[in-house]
Amino acid sequence: MAFLSDTLARVKPSPTIAVTTKAAELKAAGRDVIGLGAGEPDFDTPQNIKDAAKRAIDEGRTKYTAVDGIPELKRAICDKFQRENGLTYQPNQITVGTGGKQILYNALMATCNPGDEVIIPAPYWVSYPDMVLLAGGTPVIVTATLENAFKITPAELEAAITPRTKWFIFNSPSNPTGAGYTWDELRALTDVLMRHPHVWVMTDDMYEHLVFDDFEFCTPAQVEPGLYDRTLTCNGVSKSYAMTGWRIGYAGGPVHLIKAMATIQSQSTSNPCSVSQYAALEALTGPQEFLTANKALFQRRRDLVLSMLNATPGIQCPTPEGAFYVYPDIAGCIGKTSAGGAKITDDEAFASALLEETGVAVVFGAAFGLSPNFRISYATSDKALEEACRRIQTFCAGLT
Ligand SMILES: Cc1ncc(COP(=O)(O)O)c(C=O)c1O
Repeated sequence: MAFLSDTLARVKPSPTIAVTTKAAELKAAGRDVIGLGAGEPDFDTPQNIKDAAKRAIDEGRTKYTAVDGIPELKRAICDKFQRENGLTYQPNQITVGTGGKQILYNALMATCNPGDEVIIPAPYWVSYPDMVLLAGGTPVIVTATLENAFKITPAELEAAITPRTKWFIFNSPSNPTGAGYTWDELRALTDVLMRHPHVWVMTDDMYEHLVFDDFEFCTPAQVEPGLYDRTLTCNGVSKSYAMTGWRIGYAGGPVHLIKAMATIQSQSTSNPCSVSQYAALEALTGPQEFLTANKALFQRRRDLVLSMLNATPGIQCPTPEGAFYVYPDIAGCIGKTSAGGAKITDDEAFASALLEETGVAVVFGAAFGLSPNFRISYATSDKALEEACRRIQTFCAGLT
């Protein structure tokens, strides 16, 4: 009898974590490495949020809480959805979990049966397909193109829907491309979904606050209120409030789904960390100026990276609307040989040679379901970014 489960055989370890680990190993061995792999802000959690957590500890808020969140936080999340997204939820329609990741996982575990299909646009966040597989569902990948700025079209969505489709996972602005759907672009997708009442929408709005220029964030149940009863609106404090380590994510949705998700959570982790919940409460109800300053910083970095990459031979990169990633196309580099003698057969070979020869760590596109590309996370200092882009330029100029 096999010791490890068949479920485990269906999934693979996270490639982004693998790149981060490889970069750390090289660094430990004394190499000059610039890591552009990790998807987290490079600055600290705001002081008011840290203070709220310290207060929570001092006040003894260190015991079990309600499984899917303290009432004060659920109320604050209802207010946030109303204020920022025009969505009306009651506290019994809110769930809080250990990061956005657990929220998505709970929802899939609570709803997927063998044979159920989950539509995922590619390029996708690496965890979506594997979470669907762990939950026993079948990922159905709809691949967006560079020509359409990494966004899927209504016709592509419609063609992927079958009687077995359970969910459509939507992520805008996207990890890994930063692509954001405008109101009209999203409305064209929700029009398709209105024709298929059996399909539910899981929208991952994690990068809501990180949008640039005059782009306005929107979310499916806001754009099409007719979808409200079959939409799970997922969000979290990790990226917007520089709180990746605190592990708080949340969602609003229909009561029966929220209850089912709490059942899954009650038999796995129970409540998310009590202290982190008080920190998240402060994040959502305290001063929000931090978000504007952040946006300006990330926009400047995006522009720096874009201008340097688009001046690099063999690389093309559309301008993302948000998040802190760019996803350059490297079709012009494939088939060449690096100065160090590596054959650039695909984007994995590109990323591996780039790391070996220049010390710049990026994640190859195949991990996100669209090649040949790589992802840069520009959530790092301007100085490191400039140096990394210079090294990428030299690497690409050396390809023959
Ligand atoms: C699109 C997307 N959704 C969800 C998450 C998970 O967020 P959390 O750290 O809150 O679990 C991430 C983190 O990288 C992400 O990029």
